[in-house]
Amino acid sequence: MDTKLSILGFAGSLRQGSYNRIILRAAQEMVPSGAELKIFDLAGIPPFNQDLENEPAEKVKEFKAAIRAADALLIATPEYNYSMPGVLKNALDSASRPYGDNALDGKPVAIMGASMGMLGTARAQYHLRQSCVFLNMYPLNSPEVMVAVAQEKVDGNGRLTDPKTRDKIAELLQALIVWARRLK
Ligand code: FNR
Repeated sequence: MDTKLSILGFAGSLRQGSYNRIILRAAQEMVPSGAELKIFDLAGIPPFNQDLENEPAEKVKEFKAAIRAADALLIATPEYNYSMPGVLKNALDSASRPYGDNALDGKPVAIMGASMGMLGTARAQYHLRQSCVFLNMYPLNSPEVMVAVAQEKVDGNGRLTDPKTRDKIAELLQALIVWARRLK
């Protein structure tokens, strides 16, 4: 029997009503039957301090273990000041250390993002892709999921309602599964 492909998703926003958390939950609703998507909350990962990298916080250990247990990752990034938020960068920095113990090494990853602006996190996503190079991750190139003007695509219950965006996320999940199976 084929085992399910396990995907770990996380959003670079801690905000309760976060659009990025909303699109991640939408992905969870739509994940194909051959896969499962668990969501990891980055809240509680402390600011990275290299002096303490050999005694990581419990939350960092938990994060690294969850990444290692997953076959693939799905990152939903907001855009802060034309880049990825510190919360996400800090989580990736924490998971990559100490040197030689990079939990992200060799992981297939799909990237998406939602913003209130017109470019839908494009600039943040390309900064994230740049970090993927040094982290030795394998980002999926296509489709790119950049959710612009996100406030017009969700309802009052925190659900993604825009059909085109939902289709695009479904397409991303399907492509990630093919990509992760190919790299396995
Ligand atoms: C923003 N926002 C924003 N939007 C954008 O399209 N480009 C940007 O560079 C920025 N910069 C930025 C900086 C900071 C500090 C904040 C708080 C916000 C707006 C951003 O898209 C909006 O707040 C989203 O709602 C953030 O994502 P979540 O929290 O909804 O997932």
